[in-house]
This record gives sequence, C-alpha cells and structure tokens, in this order.
Amino acid sequence: MATVVLVSRPAGVLSKISSGCSQAASAAACVAAAQQRKLHRAVIPKGKGGRSSSSGIAATVFGATGFLGRYVVNRLGRVGSQIVIPHRCDQYDLMYFRPMGDLGQIIFMEWDAKNKESIQRAIEHSNVVINLVGREWETRNYRFEDVFVNIPQQLARASKEAGISKFVHMSHLNADMRSPSKYLRNKAVGEEAVREEFPEAVIIKPAEMFGREDRFFNYFANMRWFGNAIPLMALGKKTVKQPVYVVDVAKAIVSAVRDPDANGKTFALVGPNRYLLHDLVEYIYGLAHRPFVPYPLPRPLYHLAARIFAMNPFEPWTTPDKIDRFHTTDMKYPGLPGLEDLGITASSVEQKAIEILRRHRRFRYLEADLDETKPAKTVNY
Ligand SMILES: NC(=O)c1ccc[n+]([C@@H]2O[C@H](COP(=O)([O-])OP(=O)(O)OC[C@H]3O[C@@H](n4cnc5c(N)ncnc54)[C@H](OP(=O)(O)O)[C@@H]3O)[C@@H](O)[C@H]2O)c1
Repeated sequence: MATVVLVSRPAGVLSKISSGCSQAASAAACVAAAQQRKLHRAVIPKGKGGRSSSSGIAATVFGATGFLGRYVVNRLGRVGSQIVIPHRCDQYDLMYFRPMGDLGQIIFMEWDAKNKESIQRAIEHSNVVINLVGREWETRNYRFEDVFVNIPQQLARASKEAGISKFVHMSHLNADMRSPSKYLRNKAVGEEAVREEFPEAVIIKPAEMFGREDRFFNYFANMRWFGNAIPLMALGKKTVKQPVYVVDVAKAIVSAVRDPDANGKTFALVGPNRYLLHDLVEYIYGLAHRPFVPYPLPRPLYHLAARIFAMNPFEPWTTPDKIDRFHTTDMKYPGLPGLEDLGITASSVEQKAIEILRRHRRFRYLEADLDETKPAKTVNY
C-alpha cells in the first residue's frame, strides 16, 4: 500500500501514447497504458522484493557519503530502490556504494548546496528525498546555521516545489533552542524551518548513534592516544546517555519512507537502555580490554583544550561544542513515536558494541569472550 502512495507522483514523463491503439476495441487498454506511461519505469513496483526488484522508491539521499548514509543507501538498495547520491567528493571515493544496488540503480550526481539548480537536478526524478547533511564542526564556508537550517530549508522548499511525496529530515534527539551546544540549537531551528516548508516532512530525532564508523564510541576509545586518563565533566556522573545503533536508525528511515502514516510525524529514536556517561565509557574500555582511568575536568578547562584541537583546519579531533553535546543528558519524549512504532526492535549496546570496539583491543585480547566484560549499569532517569 505504501508503494501505491509513492508511485502516485509522475516521476518522469515517458513517451506519448502510442498511435497504434485502435479506436474502439482497445480504448480501455490505451487508457491503462497511458496511465502506466505517466510513471517512470523505476517507480513501478515489481518483483518479489530484494535488490533486483523495484520497490517503487526513487530516493535522493543528500549527505549519503557520511556515517549514516551508507547504511540508509544499503537498506534502500536491498528492497530494490533507485537511489540518487548527490556528492561533492571524487567519484572514486563513492565506489563502495556500487554493490548496494542493482545495476544502474545507484546514480551519482555532483551537487553544491549553494546552487539551487543542482538541488533541483538531483531531485527531479525522485519521489523521496532524504536529508542526512550534517557536520560536527563549523568551517569558514559553512556555519552550523548553513548546515542545519539553510540547507535543510532549501532542500525542503525545492522538494515541495518539485512535488516530492516524502521528505525525511534528520535532526537530533537533544535539539533544543536553550542547549549550550550551537549544533543542537541550530538543529532545533532547522526542524521548524523544515516543517514550515514541508509540513508533511518526517523528522527523525536520533540519540547519539554508535556503529563501526561512529564518532562516539570510537572517539572515547581513541582518547587513550592522549594518555590513559579520560577527561569527563563531573566524571560523567551527571550525564545520562541512551545511544542508538546506526543500523536501527537506517531501518527506521526506510520504514518511515514506506509507511504513508509516518508523514508529518516526528520520531525520537533511542536505544533500549539509559546509562551514565561514566558507566558507558567504562564499558567501552572494559570491552576494549584497556585500563579506564577517568578524571573530572571542569567545563572551562575542557573547552580550552578543545579549542586547541578545533584550530585544526581539516577534521578537528574535538571541539568545545562536541564536548557540550556529549555531556548533554538525552531527553525523553514519551509522547513521540519511536523505533517500535516503525516495527524495529532496538539493539542494545551490549549486543553491538563489540563490532566497533574489537579493533581497539590489543592483539592478545582480540578473540576474548564478550561475557568477560561486565555489562554497564543502566539507569531509568
Ligand atoms: N552521528 C550521530 O551520532 C548523529 C546523531 C544524531 C543526529 N545526527 C544527524 O544525522 C545526520 C547524519 O549524520 P552522520 O553522522 O551520518 O553525518 P556525517 O557523517 O557528518 O555526514 C554528513 C554528510 O553531510 C554532507 N555535508 C556536510 N556538509 C555539507 C555541505 N556543506 N554541503 C554538502 N554536503 C555536506 C557530508 O558530505 P561530505 O562527505 O562531502 O563532507 C556527508 O555526506 C546529520 O544531520 C547529523 O547531524 C547524527
């Protein structure tokens, strides 16, 4: 049923009605053919499901080259979707996407967020647009206002104008105008901007995501490079985190795309358990078989150190904003639908963290059993 809704937009107008239809006998057949021909082949559902079938989804995924993007593209590819990947990097850096879809189903296209025409070109043959654009630090060219407000607003507006039937926007669980983090403040403004331009947009608010390429568990695990002591504000005992597995978020996005009832809703995606940041980092180090020596660092000093890292013109290891974001307690949204409402069972940190942390182990612990590590204590506040 979901696909019926998706194909209702004539994504690409095909050739004119064949003149070969005889007047009386095949009138009905001609009408049916005409209706069919209004639809691009790519958006007519067919096949049994799987990569070689057609789900009826033709999606443009902005920000596909990031951490979450590869999981979303893979999930879309495995149900047989056509995917447009707007990018600004070298084509050779995108080759890992190729096996995620059937032949010709993944299309790369250069885009520039400041060029409206390139946005229009990227979405003109799609019926779904997914916005995963994000950045953890500001650059001279793109401030947080650009990445989290202006770009989403442009994408939502262009999608509305193009008659896109589904717009999915990634926000953050802790998006809040009063947050100490500028990233989170702009995420909150971005949500409103998207709603204004595209009222039926699906807004996804995930907690901090963990997965192989994450910048959360890997970030804490890599802190050992700077000596074995781990700085945490208030020892991490005043911050509660509820991280969510990246694959669950990707599944949720695809479910939201296929579910017509998801339109206009905001989803809060969290993992099954809440942990004190201290206990979570202790578990990360336990699983990596590394000594965990936390020490409390006051916010001004932590910011001072982070400011030095933030001077890196390429990818800063950390920034004051990231420190504030990681030390923000995850909000609870009992009124918002979550993973279960999209038919997904949340994976726990204990089930999946080993995928990320095995590579942080010393050689002699590479194969050590999972149950050698005590699970992190959970909290319910
Ligand atoms: N990671 C998390 O734990 C987490 C948690 C909650 C919410 N989110 C949100 O979820 C979304 C996806 O997260 P992610 O971790 O996958 O992000 P990511 O790894 O930082 O990837 C961001 C993507 O956005 C693109 N991008 C950034 N700035 C751009 C610009 N100025 N013009 C064009 N493209 C630009 C990047 O393209 P290039 O490769 O060309 O740079 C990349 O494809 C983001 O909106 C993020 O804020 C993430």
